[in-house]
Amino acid sequence: MDRRALKVLTFVAIAWLSGCGGGSGTPSADDPIVIKFPHVVAPGTPKGQAAARFEELAEARFPGRVDVEVYPSAQLMNDDDSLEALAFGEIQMIAVSLSKFDRLTHAFQVFDLPFLFPDIAAVERFQRGPTGRQLLSTLVDEGFLGLGFWHNGMKHFGAGSPLRHPQDADGLKFRIMESDVLQAQIEAIGGNPQKMAYGEVYQALQTGAIDAQENTWSNIYSSKFYEVQPYFSVTNHGYVGYLVAVNPTFWNNLPEDVRTGLEEVVAEVSEWENAESIAINEQSLVNLRDSGRTTILELSDEELAAWQTAVSPVWDEFADSIGADLIDAARRAADDD
Ligand code: SIN
Repeated sequence: MDRRALKVLTFVAIAWLSGCGGGSGTPSADDPIVIKFPHVVAPGTPKGQAAARFEELAEARFPGRVDVEVYPSAQLMNDDDSLEALAFGEIQMIAVSLSKFDRLTHAFQVFDLPFLFPDIAAVERFQRGPTGRQLLSTLVDEGFLGLGFWHNGMKHFGAGSPLRHPQDADGLKFRIMESDVLQAQIEAIGGNPQKMAYGEVYQALQTGAIDAQENTWSNIYSSKFYEVQPYFSVTNHGYVGYLVAVNPTFWNNLPEDVRTGLEEVVAEVSEWENAESIAINEQSLVNLRDSGRTTILELSDEELAAWQTAVSPVWDEFADSIGADLIDAARRAADDD
């Protein structure tokens, strides 16, 4: 067992023994209920805007009773640490990329299968369906109660040299999120995957520690990867989205009116976020083109098909761990437009 897996097992075990944490935040009757909500992206991204909106609406609905503290841009902690902190009850809310739950559940690996979802509408159909809804409660025993999914957008590759064909990726070091599916995806195109926290990507590109990365237009633009990455390819090969989660013990101990009220606020913000995310990514692509600092490569259907063929073995490799039911439900949603 590697060091990371051991660390995760330890924190899940401790969270379980301590009743999934949450005890430390129990307020007295007069104290506001504090909801610490750290995340790693910029305030202008879909998640950044949604977190700020949640803060505004939750505090307006419960003046003096609820105090939401949003910490963007990894100011408080990175995603790995936030998973641990939520399970321990040190923070109360997260919206972490589904890919980063890989070591806690294999179910979310379905979101990382390359070229499964052609667009955000397909992801939305899957997440709103019965199989998608069930995923929200997959990790309750580990200390994560899912309240909703928020989209970021579809992923694209960027590199120091043009990526038109899968062979162009040969030997390049790609930063990826903490996901074994993404690792297999990069290996399938001959690249060298490097799992790395989001906050380290800019510098790693700048210093040449990595050559390439994959992300959404809004992350690429807001984190200024285009300043240190001359080429992007429009590939739409994967999805970045988030599980909006709370510590179950904390949540279930809230006064009932607050809990149901905040659940309504999360539902409202989720509707808004999931509609806005597409426009924010489209605008980010326009901004990238207008920056004049980077080249955006449009690939032909044949070129895209070659990428799809190159990564197709990843599906077989992870079919058993994800499960046929989950993959079939996602495929039906993807085909059903
Ligand atoms: C995020 O969108 O929260 C970060 C995604 C990444 O780590 O690439």
